[in-house]
Amino acid sequence: MKKLFKIVLVSIIPLVLFSCYYDEFPEEIEEEEVVIPPETVVSFADDIAPIFVTYNCTQCHDTSGQAPDLTAGNAYTSLLAGYVNPGNSSTSRLYIQLADNGHRNVDANSLALIKKWIDDGAENN
Ligand code: HEC
Repeated sequence: MKKLFKIVLVSIIPLVLFSCYYDEFPEEIEEEEVVIPPETVVSFADDIAPIFVTYNCTQCHDTSGQAPDLTAGNAYTSLLAGYVNPGNSSTSRLYIQLADNGHRNVDANSLALIKKWIDDGAENN
């Protein structure tokens, strides 16, 4: 009887220990990554300013509201006055605010355009 108990115990322990073992863990859901081809020239007028329209940024960021002023005609000058460091998106408050702080939930493609535009020198093009 004792022997039978031991056999049962010995066969049950591995079952309990290894029953939740997975060879493969479910893959983590990766964040969408958008890569703008290096040869693409991102235009402030055609690519960046429209993002401010799409997301209604001027609802809060207008001439009398929260800085930076993102209204058409003023956005470039206002952004270059401290919110964008040409050539360096990672230290640019515009990019940090949108990409890292998740301000207004801007889509991945728009963020990639803003990043490339800044890293390419933030021209008024
Ligand atoms: C509902 C109002 C509202 C809207 C819409 C809005 N913002 Fe803002 N934004 C704010 C407020 C309030 C602040 C200041 C507090 C803060 O930093 O979150 C701010 C701050 C900022 C800053 C400055 C961050 C800093 O480091 O000083 C930037 C750049 C900015 N917003 C960009 C945008 C852009 C681009 C959009 C559109 C995609 C947008 N905001 C839409 C309210 C808004």
